Amino acid sequence: MTNPFSLFSDLKHRIEAREARIATLGLGYVGLPLALSVHDAGFPVTGFDINEARVEAINAGERVISYFAPDRIAGAVATGRFAASAEMAELAEMDAILICVPTPLGGDLQPDLSAVRRAGETIAAHLRPGQLIVLESTVWPGATAGVLRPILEASGLKAGTHFFLAFSPEREDPGNESWSTRTIPKIVGADDAHSLELARSLYAAVVTQAVPVSSTATAEAVKLAENSFRTVNIALVNEMKLAFAKMGVDVWEVIEAAATKPFGYMPFWPGPGIGGDCIPVSPVYLAWAARQAGGALPLVETAARQNREMPAHVAARVAEAAGGDLQGKRVLILGIAYKRDIEDSRLSPALAALRLIEAAGARAEYHDPFFPEMPRTRDDPDLAGRRSVALTAEAV
Ligand SMILES: NC(=O)c1ccc[n+]([C@@H]2O[C@H](COP(=O)([O-])OP(=O)(O)OC[C@H]3O[C@@H](n4cnc5c(N)ncnc54)[C@H](O)[C@@H]3O)[C@@H](O)[C@H]2O)c1
Repeated sequence: MTNPFSLFSDLKHRIEAREARIATLGLGYVGLPLALSVHDAGFPVTGFDINEARVEAINAGERVISYFAPDRIAGAVATGRFAASAEMAELAEMDAILICVPTPLGGDLQPDLSAVRRAGETIAAHLRPGQLIVLESTVWPGATAGVLRPILEASGLKAGTHFFLAFSPEREDPGNESWSTRTIPKIVGADDAHSLELARSLYAAVVTQAVPVSSTATAEAVKLAENSFRTVNIALVNEMKLAFAKMGVDVWEVIEAAATKPFGYMPFWPGPGIGGDCIPVSPVYLAWAARQAGGALPLVETAARQNREMPAHVAARVAEAAGGDLQGKRVLILGIAYKRDIEDSRLSPALAALRLIEAAGARAEYHDPFFPEMPRTRDDPDLAGRRSVALTAEAV
């Protein structure tokens, strides 16, 4: 086996020369934009996914993600430096593998790292000396070293010696027109100097700023701290909205006025709750990990619970507006996605409100141009096939 330093310097050289073959494992909202950004930086890229239909669609140049420019994927495929694949044996040909698989909540509100474990097992089966493996999926502090590393090392190769291992949290904000994968600074953490330097130099070639931190656990904690900050502030503003309403004060006017303070205040806006696979999930991962370590995050846990309860407030307001009883009423929900202009309904508060409204006896329908028909999803398979109602005078 080649010595660790030459494995490091070979890969460093290949990254600097843009010759390193980069893989993303997972081609979802995170893995696909990342793969395209790495391609745009000049690297040859293969995006791997177990979803063969998605792989075929990407190789056919289909748009796949609605906010992409129509030719975003077709243009990358046409360069010959970007392709999708479901053939995991090809992972052995890659120099760096960036893992972007889902890390959802289990049914019991516990972290579910099964996709990360499976991805690790797949990589371990094809791992070769000199490869850089980076986990991008949101996990708790200690998961790269404690969960992924042993799976990879079951191959007989050792992290930091035979292969390199880092964690770099994804900060993708789907649909954000101001910030893209390339312009959002990237945190990079590793538990040995060679892994850190390789991951740093790869991301520095792809994004405008790579920010190194001292360990994988620190990088993991950064992501959860960012998302928990948002969770707490969203819960705070929603709590204020409910309290100010009782006092006859308009929370929107309060926030707009408060936001004129040039320091010490950042506006967050009230809403029907939080959704997506990120903000609702991270605080749960963080609080769970803190408990395992003998710590506690009661503020974060309260905020997460309060956000989960917001759809119930929405349903209660609808019932109030309907005269106190929703039995036999028809309710139209405008927007079913978890945020505007996106075809993603994961953990959407609109779906939670829909269920509560129906449980109260109403017939709930929705209008959302991004969901002409509800697909079969992990969390809401029973809603598959429902259709968006056109906003005609008759329907409204
Ligand atoms: N969506 C976001 O806005 C966002 C932002 C920041 C971080 N994240 C985090 O990034 C990670 C990925 O999220 P996402 O939104 O891209 O998920 P996603 O569901 O959109 O995509 C995940 C993809 O991984 C594929 N996949 C699952 N298991 C696999 C395996 N073993 N091997 C290969 N492919 C596999 C799936 O088929 C899917 O296409 C999660 O940890 C999430 O919390 C998401």
